[in-house]
Amino acid sequence: MPLISKKGTFMLLLIFTVVFLVKCMDSKKISTDPRGVEYAGAGSCRSCHQAVYDSFRLTSHHAATAPGDPALVKGSFLEGKNSFAFDDNRQVKMEKRGGRLYQVLYKDGKEKEAHPFDISFGSKNAQTWLYWSGNNTYQLPISFYTSVNNWGTSPGYSILYPSFDRLIGRNCFECHSSHIGFLHGADSSPLTTNNPQKREEMDRRSLVTGIDCERCHGPAREHVNYHAQNPGQSQGRFITRILGMSRQQQLDACAVCHSGNDRVKKKSRFAFRPGDTLSHFFGSLMDSIIKTEPDVHGNQYGLLTESRCFIQSLQLTCNTCHDPHRDSPSNLAIYSAKCVGCHPVGSPAFCTVQSPGADVLVQNCIDCHMPNQPSSAISFQLSGSTQRYSYYLRTHRIGVYHLETK
Ligand code: HEC
Ligand code: HEC
Ligand code: HEC
Ligand code: HEC
Ligand code: HEC
Ligand code: HEC
Ligand code: HEC
Repeated sequence: MPLISKKGTFMLLLIFTVVFLVKCMDSKKISTDPRGVEYAGAGSCRSCHQAVYDSFRLTSHHAATAPGDPALVKGSFLEGKNSFAFDDNRQVKMEKRGGRLYQVLYKDGKEKEAHPFDISFGSKNAQTWLYWSGNNTYQLPISFYTSVNNWGTSPGYSILYPSFDRLIGRNCFECHSSHIGFLHGADSSPLTTNNPQKREEMDRRSLVTGIDCERCHGPAREHVNYHAQNPGQSQGRFITRILGMSRQQQLDACAVCHSGNDRVKKKSRFAFRPGDTLSHFFGSLMDSIIKTEPDVHGNQYGLLTESRCFIQSLQLTCNTCHDPHRDSPSNLAIYSAKCVGCHPVGSPAFCTVQSPGADVLVQNCIDCHMPNQPSSAISFQLSGSTQRYSYYLRTHRIGVYHLETK
């Protein structure tokens, strides 16, 4: 007779397995950040930087990518407002099924395919969604546009027929998230495969949504540990002082995502740390690009650097007008005060327009000198219509515009 019965062996094994699993989970807890042990995660900044943390949570940067959660998805799911007609026979409906959201294609009233809202991109002017299929993400065909407060076609899709096959590569995540693990060629080194699906494969569990503290400030685990152990220290240690960097370094820390997408990439944007030089990340313009005009979408840096304010002031950066921890206020008088800081009322540097008077001008320099302009990269269409709607953004080329209506 054996010392332990079969039942006993099984119980022992079970206990060992449980203990082992719990241990594994514990050790995972210590380093939960998919970027590695040198990262602490945004949640850990809160205890010492409460005010910054609270305002950051409300920004577009924080919402640049998010789970496709019903509470965060814009656009109506109510019957009558939740469908997009491609023609009389084919429509895509936005539906809630068992707590999850889907875009469902119907043909002649019959369901053909349905894909979930897995990941949200954007929150301010537009929102679009991706779904996972294997290790790839694809865009859903219908997006939401704030300017019309309605559903419209997603960029990159035809209005003529509905489809769900726009492969969304890791490039989008490099500007819109803080991390996602690439399954091949982590630093964007050229891959041997020509298969785009294969090339763009990602590890879905490793996504760190939103543009978080450490995306802009660099890995901060050492900073957190040091200050937790030295509560009397009032000088920030083991963290790059952004305002102590050169003007070009400060600009590059924003331009890594705000200088367009038309240059040959040498390294992944994920590898960028504050203080790095952007020219090490990008080469010359891609051969396929003939256009040299920077677009108002995604290239604020390219436009700003063409302005005389930028060239001749020697100190203008993005931070002159923007608070990195707060969304741009809609009150244009706040920005206008920044203009007046360098163009004081009554000085020769002030606006040369005679009428209206200075008291009116100071309320809004923006609409005249940084007007909203249509993007040439993005436009969209509404359900059952052939009209193309433009996507407007502020030009960052500050200058004199001869506007007919203003
Ligand atoms: C245990 C407390 C503590 C935690 C947690 C903490 N910090 Fe700090 N941090 C400080 C102190 C103290 C300073 C110096 C005073 C100040 O600038 O607020 C500082 C300063 C900074 C600065 C400014 C550096 C400078 O000189 O311009 C940045 C940026 C920063 N922390 C980022 C972070 C980020 C990101 C996190 C989370 C990953 C974080 N901190 C978590 C205590 C902490
Ligand atoms: C990792 C890429 C990345 C970096 C770094 C980055 N941004 Fe952004 N930024 C984005 C993306 C993506 C959006 C659009 C987010 C959205 O609405 O989904 C955005 C949106 C914005 C907006 C519009 C939201 C608003 O306030 O109305 C401003 C302004 C802005 N960024 C300024 C900056 C400045 C200034 C810096 C440097 C301090 C910076 N960004 C650094 C990617 C980045
Ligand atoms: C879009 C990039 C960006 C993000 C995201 C970001 N920061 Fe900053 N942060 C900056 C820049 C640029 C500065 C320097 C300019 C300034 O102080 O206004 C700065 C300054 C700071 C400072 C020193 C000045 C101050 O305001 O106290 C602290 C502390 C700080 N950041 C903490 C954080 C924490 C914590 C988070 C996340 C909750 C965070 N930052 C997210 C770009 C960013
Ligand atoms: C080079 C960096 C970069 C890349 C790559 C990029 N974006 Fe963006 N995206 C931005 C910036 C910056 C903004 C915000 C302001 C603007 O439109 O210029 C933005 C805005 C958006 C918005 C509107 C956000 C809002 O709140 O209004 C959506 C949606 C979006 N991007 C989706 C995508 C998708 C999908 C991809 C990939 C096909 C992508 N982006 C690739 C930088 C980028
Ligand atoms: C950091 C200082 C600074 C800020 C902030 C600034 N400017 Fe300027 N701006 C300058 C300088 C310097 C020049 C070049 C002066 C000259 O031409 O004599 C200039 C030139 C201009 C010009 C002439 C442009 C041209 O192409 O002819 C206009 C218009 C102008 N600024 C408007 C504005 C407006 C509007 C704002 C706010 C949105 C603004 N500036 C913010 C410093 C600044
Ligand atoms: C002279 C002031 C000024 C400077 C410098 C400046 N911006 Fe802006 N930015 C604005 C104004 C004004 C708006 C429009 C705000 C609004 O309409 O609500 C804006 C809007 C934006 C938006 C939102 C897109 C849109 O059209 O609403 C982004 C993104 C942005 N800025 C990024 C940047 C980046 C990146 C830099 C540095 C390369 C920068 N800005 C420098 C004044 C400035
Ligand atoms: C109603 C539209 C409008 C508003 C508002 C306005 N400007 Fe102007 N501004 C112009 C036009 C148009 C010119 C071109 C010269 C002219 O007509 O005299 C100009 C000229 C200028 C110039 C001289 C450009 C040069 O060629 O050197 C500067 C600097 C300037 N504006 C700054 C500002 C600032 C700063 C504000 C806000 C306090 C402002 N403007 C408000 C329309 C406007």
